[in-house]
Amino acid sequence: MTDTAGRLLQIRGMRADPIRRLLASARDASAFRGDELEGVTVANLFFEDSTRTRVSFTIAAQRLGAAVVDVSGKGSSVSKGESIADTARTIEAMGVGAMVVRCSQSGGAKGVADAVSCAVLNAGDGRHEHPTQALIDALTLSRALGREADFDLSGVRVAIVGDCAASRVARSNIACLTALGAEVVCCGPPGMAPTTLEGLGCGVSHDLDGLVGEVDAVMALRIQFERSSSIGSAREYRDRFGLTRERAARMRPGAWVMHPGPLNRGLEIDGEVGDGDRSLILRQVGAGPDVRAAALLSCVSACRQS
Ligand code: CP
Repeated sequence: MTDTAGRLLQIRGMRADPIRRLLASARDASAFRGDELEGVTVANLFFEDSTRTRVSFTIAAQRLGAAVVDVSGKGSSVSKGESIADTARTIEAMGVGAMVVRCSQSGGAKGVADAVSCAVLNAGDGRHEHPTQALIDALTLSRALGREADFDLSGVRVAIVGDCAASRVARSNIACLTALGAEVVCCGPPGMAPTTLEGLGCGVSHDLDGLVGEVDAVMALRIQFERSSSIGSAREYRDRFGLTRERAARMRPGAWVMHPGPLNRGLEIDGEVGDGDRSLILRQVGAGPDVRAAALLSCVSACRQS
């Protein structure tokens, strides 16, 4: 979570107030002067592939006047066996003020935070969390539903569909959306949406057809082949859990389609649904720089004060 030490590692455990403060800062991002992080260097430590998160953190840092350095596994001494913690300490010794960490190990961002004293932001760590993605999703949905004045999502129902058990996006969104008052239902086959997820404060369903007309937003998750999700037959998965054109047509009037990206078109979502009038997908992407600027500023400011 974001705290006085200047870390944003997870949403789980955060109260609604600090989440709403971050969202309000992102909503009001046009008020940033552009020199808030002048003199600060932000290191993007991306040990796993990314387009949206890496680019939007870079834009966010530059918007605040910070310098940015990119470090990846390939091409750095991590590929020679240096640990991520040693890499982080090495980079901090060069005067870096904030680290943005994407890695395949759950808890990897905390490992970096334990090794350094600068600001650390989790940009997605294994199956654990992807906190800025959830903030992006909450801001985008609040705007679409006309709730951006106070980010109160009471009475809003959101279905998260796919491999929720393996998804850091699902975990962060369950924590974020429920903290803001929304009801979240995870939907997928039992192996991907096990009833144990109820312990995170969400409902569980294995029946998308029964759910799709009852919610204000459907967030389709990417099937993560790299995390060895076993979906069985792709056609069967799409038939039961794909956000197809037919299912999207049965959504409530005014209900929204979301997806964190990247999309497997024709599997978890039909291309025309992802590109359609209900889709918030490009608005989610567009909110990335503002949300990440707000998160960077919050973490670096907290670090300066500690
Ligand atoms: N949503 C998301 O994290 O996308 P990237 O992997 O492209 O950063």
